[in-house]
Amino acid sequence: MQERLIVFDTTLRDGEQSPGASMTTEEKIRIARQLEKMHVDVIEAGFPAASPGDFDAVQAIARQVQESKICGLARANESDVAQAAAAVAPASAPRIHTFIATSPIHMQDKLRMAPDQVLERAVAAVKQARNSTDDVEFSPEDAGRSEEDFLCRVIEAVIKAGASTINIPDTVGYTMPSQFGELIARLISRVPNSDQAVFSVHCHNDLGVAVANSLAAVQSGARQVECTVNGLGERAGNASLEEIVMAIRTRQDVFTCDTGIDSTQILPASRLVSNITGFPVQPNKAIVGANAFAHEAGIHQDGVIKRRETYEIMRAEDVGWSANRIVLGKHSGRAAVKERLAALGIEFETEEDLNRTFGHFKELADKKHEVFDEDLQALVTERATEQLNERLQFVAMKFVSQTGEMPAATVTLRVDGVEESATSTGDGVVDASFQAVDGVFPTDNTLLLYSVNAITAGSDSQGEVSVRLQSGGRIVNGQGADTDIVMASVKAYINALNKLELPPRRFHPQSEGTV
Ligand code: KIV
Ligand code: ZN
Repeated sequence: MQERLIVFDTTLRDGEQSPGASMTTEEKIRIARQLEKMHVDVIEAGFPAASPGDFDAVQAIARQVQESKICGLARANESDVAQAAAAVAPASAPRIHTFIATSPIHMQDKLRMAPDQVLERAVAAVKQARNSTDDVEFSPEDAGRSEEDFLCRVIEAVIKAGASTINIPDTVGYTMPSQFGELIARLISRVPNSDQAVFSVHCHNDLGVAVANSLAAVQSGARQVECTVNGLGERAGNASLEEIVMAIRTRQDVFTCDTGIDSTQILPASRLVSNITGFPVQPNKAIVGANAFAHEAGIHQDGVIKRRETYEIMRAEDVGWSANRIVLGKHSGRAAVKERLAALGIEFETEEDLNRTFGHFKELADKKHEVFDEDLQALVTERATEQLNERLQFVAMKFVSQTGEMPAATVTLRVDGVEESATSTGDGVVDASFQAVDGVFPTDNTLLLYSVNAITAGSDSQGEVSVRLQSGGRIVNGQGADTDIVMASVKAYINALNKLELPPRRFHPQSEGTV
């Protein structure tokens, strides 16, 4: 019998800690539903103590997701553990994940605690968590730089206190694959009660080896991997779910375990996370990048046509790059659109809500021939964005661009319900239109990122624009989609400006600051 490798997805917690990646509750529920559809074993839905909004999001996911376990993160203190317990309580299978740092640098300079105090706190938190659920996970944060004897002592004590999963994080992405694999093997053999817990790993990608470290750990006996869709996460991100899952599946000659993931749901999950967070997927990204299965060089194409395996080690269809995709068009009725949206896990609370989305679908179908699932996802993201956009609303725009002339744009916005327009020239129409927005609503911000991606193939594809702004120490991401990419850009800029108008939402679990 093949052993099971548990997939623990932390897109909604560690992924969301990535500056600018914060999501609304509705968006988190859409992602959680897709993770459930993909058969993720454990969904880390958030850090409930971060803010009331985070608590509500974890609780809503716990109520709505049935098939996956729902986990809430808690620092090793009474209040965090109590809040995590309450947030995950409605889940069919709740888990509490509590953590405290064990490396000398974190204990001395962040926690200002002696090792014995850390050990005591870890044990107390696990015991408290066990009062609400049998499923408790413990992480010694920065394990990759912790002193090994101390790590063994802490792990033994928390297993004794009732932790059934021991997660070893390489918090700062410092270790190398051979080192990390050996560390996991040693911990499993040195901790006397290690057979009473599942060993898990959580690797960050600062040196580009998060997936390699996770795979080395699996070869050493880890049976849970913590990962995120598209490798989203703090700094350089976390280990990417799609890469781990497909490496294990493709190299069954090397691994003695496999995941329960439905790999055909990988691409839809990747597209959804990118669309909602505004973090584009690089074209050459393994598994989910646009070029991952594109054989451009003539010699490769020739080989692939003669026999696919000459250059392909996986089948594109197996990860969701399907040729037979269901397409809607301008003749599709309300029922067909509703059914397709339901298949994507999108439901509507009111008929009015469905009618509004159907109206947007009709507008889009008039502009482009074929409406794909990705277009529908973008439409729904925009619908949610509209509901958020309290201060600034896009009304209309006009722009002129002609060879040899300075481009100019006029933008009309509704600011707190009052319509205002401004005109500006600029270095290209996007720049002119952003300056026109600034003319209506001046703010002090720095543009950190501007990126445009085609949502689907074809020149009539919607452009999906991400705009990342920094203002007063905060970073936000805005998204916009439209078949007109200048319009998509303005929508994305306005979306980011609206987010900057909202108060900072939450505590960061590891740095104690707000984000
Ligand atoms: O990277 C890390 O150490 C974490 C812990 C909270 C598990 O995210
Ligand atoms: Zn992490």
